[in-house]
Amino acid sequence: MRKPIIAGNWKMNNTASEGVALVNALKPLVANADCEVVVCVPAIDIPAVAEALKGSNIALGAQNVHFAEKGAFTGEISANMLKEFGVKYVIIGHSERRQYFGETDETVNKRTLAALNAGLTPIVCVGESLEERETGKTESVLDKQLTDGLKGIENIADIVIAYEPVWAIGTGKTATSEQANETIGYIRKKIGELFCPKCAEKLRIQYGGSMNAGNCKELMAMPEIDGGLIGGASLKANDFATIANYNK
Ligand code: 13P
Repeated sequence: MRKPIIAGNWKMNNTASEGVALVNALKPLVANADCEVVVCVPAIDIPAVAEALKGSNIALGAQNVHFAEKGAFTGEISANMLKEFGVKYVIIGHSERRQYFGETDETVNKRTLAALNAGLTPIVCVGESLEERETGKTESVLDKQLTDGLKGIENIADIVIAYEPVWAIGTGKTATSEQANETIGYIRKKIGELFCPKCAEKLRIQYGGSMNAGNCKELMAMPEIDGGLIGGASLKANDFATIANYNK
């Protein structure tokens, strides 16, 4: 019922020409994937990568968006600017943005509403730190991120949530598939309470954090996990293609 979505988050990697080379290598490898395949690329790579992706089954995503429609926000990029290049998805509230760039649940909320308003699909990231997990705060941290970050969304199934435990990102330490499944199940239950249980059943929730060609099958076999948001392994065409073809 929920179509799985495998998205690469290139983070601050790949110049435009490197990005084009990567997607050109990727296109034939994922042409028969059963899931939705997305690459979320640096903003300045978007025009070139958009061109390279034409006619393929790979959708284009950005890594951030400003919440204002336009105006005096030096250095920022609006949802309409992304739309014009055929961008479909946008990552919002990644833990690196929360950690290094002052992103809060309030700004996550504003960006999410602005993206939806422009017809982009937000991939909203949530997740706890190691200390929060070890001190039993995972659920309360997620409760706050979901309650404050997703306020005012009309159709919750219009977004994608990425559960990315901060301690699993770029560390090689993956959450076990049971841990990821259990926490994503918790997120779905909470969304059911905040919005409606039926909408929660339609909402796609990805796992992110050291997902790779070796562990993707096991993670994707879990009933609550509807996809992956992949950092490091999305930078290699073969590895990312293996993940997108997890069911073959
Ligand atoms: P890694 O796959 O490199 O751990 O990164 C995960 C991530 O942050 C995706 O957004």
